[in-house]
Amino acid sequence: MKILILGDIVGRPGRNAVANQLSHLREEYKPDLVIVNGENASAGRGLTEKNAKELFELDIDVITTGNHVWDKKEILTYIESYPQLIRPANYPDPCPGKGYTIIHKGETTIGVINLSGVVYLSNLTNPFHTIDKILHEISKQCNIIILDFHAEATSEKLAMGYYCDGRISLVYGTHTHVQTADKRILNGGTGYITDIGMTGPLDGILGVDKDIIIQQMQNNRPARYDLAQGPVQINGIITEINEETGKCQSLDNFIRIIEE
Ligand SMILES: [Fe+2]
Ligand SMILES: [Fe+2]
Repeated sequence: MKILILGDIVGRPGRNAVANQLSHLREEYKPDLVIVNGENASAGRGLTEKNAKELFELDIDVITTGNHVWDKKEILTYIESYPQLIRPANYPDPCPGKGYTIIHKGETTIGVINLSGVVYLSNLTNPFHTIDKILHEISKQCNIIILDFHAEATSEKLAMGYYCDGRISLVYGTHTHVQTADKRILNGGTGYITDIGMTGPLDGILGVDKDIIIQQMQNNRPARYDLAQGPVQINGIITEINEETGKCQSLDNFIRIIEE
């Protein structure tokens, strides 16, 4: 089974890029399943119901999120209605929504899990404990298991990759918005990449207007984050997973630049 995954969609430029380019990516890669990270899809912070619907209308199978999941307050009430929109599983129990979803494609059952790191991020439940708990719940029923590990520290992400090796088909990182060049298949057959990058403005800092960020770094004052203008990048990965063994057979990363 081929799976196409796109990094954090940032604001309208990112959403437009997905709307305009996904059909071309589908033609090229012929994926059976498409996953995107939507935590920044609405004005760079959070995800409105309208924007979630628009993404699902493009036949995206799963939307994962991260630390920005709650930024648009309306998600607290609508997330329960969209089982294929997931949030990090290690948020405490009173949080609405689910940390994983199970998809059926023909004879194949795919589990998609979302977890947040805890190094330089919120102090959530330990993700290594949470992944064990989830795998105990879903491993038997899934042919393929995918994890979006939304985390800051490369060490935490690599540790999760090795921790899951042989138990999960693919561990990929999101959150830093910068794609890493370390894709590989670990000894136990788990595909791994530290970060798949972002989908949104290229000529900015993680999608935000670079002058605002530079100024903020100079003066240490809070600032309103406007998105950068200009060309847009689409960052993602395409992977092939064996449905029988659940092991990763190939993993490739890509970056597309779309001039305005
Ligand atoms: Fe993000
Ligand atoms: Fe994030």
